[in-house]
Amino acid sequence: MSKFWKPGSERPRATLVDDEEGGVLFFSTPSSEYGRSTLERQKQRLPVYKYRDAILYLVENNPTTIIVGETGSGKTTQIPQYLKEAGWAEGDRVIACTQPRRLSVQSVAARVAEEMGVKLGDEVGYTIRFEDQTNPGTTKIKFLTDGVLLREMMDDPLLTNYSVIMVDEAHERSISTDMLLGLLKKIQRRRPELRLIISSATIEAKSMSNFFQIRKKNRRQEVKDDPGSLKPPAILSVEGKGFPVEIYYLEEPASDYLQSAVSTVLSINDEEPAGDILVFLTGQDDIEAAVQLLADGARDIRGHSSGLLVLPLYSGLPRADQDLVFAPTPKGKRKVIISTNIAETSLTLEGVVYVVDCGFSKQRFYNPISDIESLVVAPISKASARQRTGRAGRVRPGKCFRLYTEEYFVKELPSEGIPEMQRSNLVSCVIQLKALGIDNILGFDWLASPPPEAMVRALEVLYSLGILDEDAKLTSPTGFQVAEIPLEPMIAKMILSADAFGCSEEIITVAAVLSVQSIWVNIRGTQKELDEVKLWFAAAEGDHVSFLNVYKGFLNSGKSSQWCYKNFINYHAMKKVVDVREQLSRLIKRLGIVLKSCERDTQTLRKAVLAGFFAHASCLEEYSQNGMYKTIRSSQEVYIHPSSVLFRVNPKWVIYHSLVSTDKHYMRNVIAIDPSWLTEAAPHFYQLRMPNPALF
Ligand code: CDP
Ligand code: MG
Repeated sequence: MSKFWKPGSERPRATLVDDEEGGVLFFSTPSSEYGRSTLERQKQRLPVYKYRDAILYLVENNPTTIIVGETGSGKTTQIPQYLKEAGWAEGDRVIACTQPRRLSVQSVAARVAEEMGVKLGDEVGYTIRFEDQTNPGTTKIKFLTDGVLLREMMDDPLLTNYSVIMVDEAHERSISTDMLLGLLKKIQRRRPELRLIISSATIEAKSMSNFFQIRKKNRRQEVKDDPGSLKPPAILSVEGKGFPVEIYYLEEPASDYLQSAVSTVLSINDEEPAGDILVFLTGQDDIEAAVQLLADGARDIRGHSSGLLVLPLYSGLPRADQDLVFAPTPKGKRKVIISTNIAETSLTLEGVVYVVDCGFSKQRFYNPISDIESLVVAPISKASARQRTGRAGRVRPGKCFRLYTEEYFVKELPSEGIPEMQRSNLVSCVIQLKALGIDNILGFDWLASPPPEAMVRALEVLYSLGILDEDAKLTSPTGFQVAEIPLEPMIAKMILSADAFGCSEEIITVAAVLSVQSIWVNIRGTQKELDEVKLWFAAAEGDHVSFLNVYKGFLNSGKSSQWCYKNFINYHAMKKVVDVREQLSRLIKRLGIVLKSCERDTQTLRKAVLAGFFAHASCLEEYSQNGMYKTIRSSQEVYIHPSSVLFRVNPKWVIYHSLVSTDKHYMRNVIAIDPSWLTEAAPHFYQLRMPNPALF
């Protein structure tokens, strides 16, 4: 096991900059008999239960109520039920509860339906992108992502269906949550009877409260709409319950957090009494790798099963695997859940006594100068580290093993994270606000203003895509059509362009594949086999064309799970692709696009992709020995991702779908193009930037 030490014990403590972090976190009242009570009794034991009447009173009497409470106190699952019991869903009114993540939407909806003894999709339902489990006549409590609620505003700008909207997990400050809060504040002026609940696991209540009190002064229109003063939101803090958690730090920094996490889990299993383990890693890839290593490691040591039940948890996980995570731990087993930061506050896992925190999470970062947005594995904030630690103290005193040194925690981790709004590409955000009639986007009532450079970049890209006109208004029909398609604007533009190229059949398949996480099953130790299998499907033109081969193979196999298993293809992802594709085909028909196939004309297909993604072009550096490309737009150094079929093939000119950054910027999902297509598709964008392609 890596060497850990407990602050305040065998080694002198470093001076703590952070005053709350004394090595032991104390929470207040102890929790009770997990697993033995009926659902009803469990409900009554949750900390929010004591506040039921207070919450209902505040919601009745205040337009906005802010509720702060420790993860697991019952905010998400209980408050919507209290509201329903109090009559907020009578008539045709609906109670909405938003979540930043799809997986938590599904999971909490299922739990609430179970608690209420109703079928999921009837009285309690949920909606996430491409999946609607509601029944318009009967659904009273609806869980949905914040992004879906934003989309609903396009059809119903005042969200008239809803009596109460609970914006949950507001501390996460997702880009959609921030947009939603600004828009809901506007809606409230027109619909004073609408009730908002903002719930959060951490105290950012003050800035939220100020936000809802202060009217945007520089817009005359708004002042006129609202002659009265804004009532300050009510704030309620739910007292948490939990046990102390001891924190251990590494004595020396770990060189490989994945290995370190695996060996820590094995040592906990050897040395510590019963209790489930929750490991925080960063994403699907390293989670699956750790699951595999633990399965191998556990067997190697003893030659037989170690009693560990190792389960992954990340968004995009199939439902059956999600259920395993929430099911009670079988007798004699110790559950090890390896999760992204989804288990930090969005989901409560019972039975966790040990937390292993790698200190990183995958975060989106955007640099408006280079116009590069990428997913980066970056250090978490101190606030996140504390949340992770708290997950160990739900059932009894717990331990948290931080895979970093105390000095690193104190000196390197920022105290709070940066809101997503301030580190994202704003293209989708701008388009959505424009579609909702918000023209002055910089003047919008932001909880935290987006960087003006990012805004300018977004406007530039949208203009070059023909989505906005010179006056920064949505173009008709393209701009409005793009806004209707619930995919990133570049994909939406690619779909619309496919009409003219006569390849809409193929393009919606590509769009559907790009919208699921990964269609390949990537198990550590099977990389060679996976690479060999990929060759079967690989097309010289690149990943998008290879996706079409996989899709065809899947259909020809009669959508067989066996076939997927044999070919290292994720069966659930493929089923999702078929489903999303079906929905897209209905959507584009509605937009007046005729489904047409280009058969084997991959040049046409690639041109259609390029019509949406011309801004993501890069060129192989001359004499580059290691496959280095430079983006045309900002001369940024990038490389083809090893998962791409073009990895090591390195065509001269490529278009990529997205960038992931670890040690380098990697282009994911890449196709080869001819540079003349760039100036053909987007002369206004490339004329001034690119030397004559004939010179290359
Ligand atoms: O939202 P908050 O973190 O305050 O708590 P919650 O998600 O409402 O969770 C309250 C209780 O419901 C916890 O004891 C959870 O373990 C339980 N729960 C569950 O068993 N299964 C779920 N899918 C969601 C919650
Ligand atoms: Mg919650």
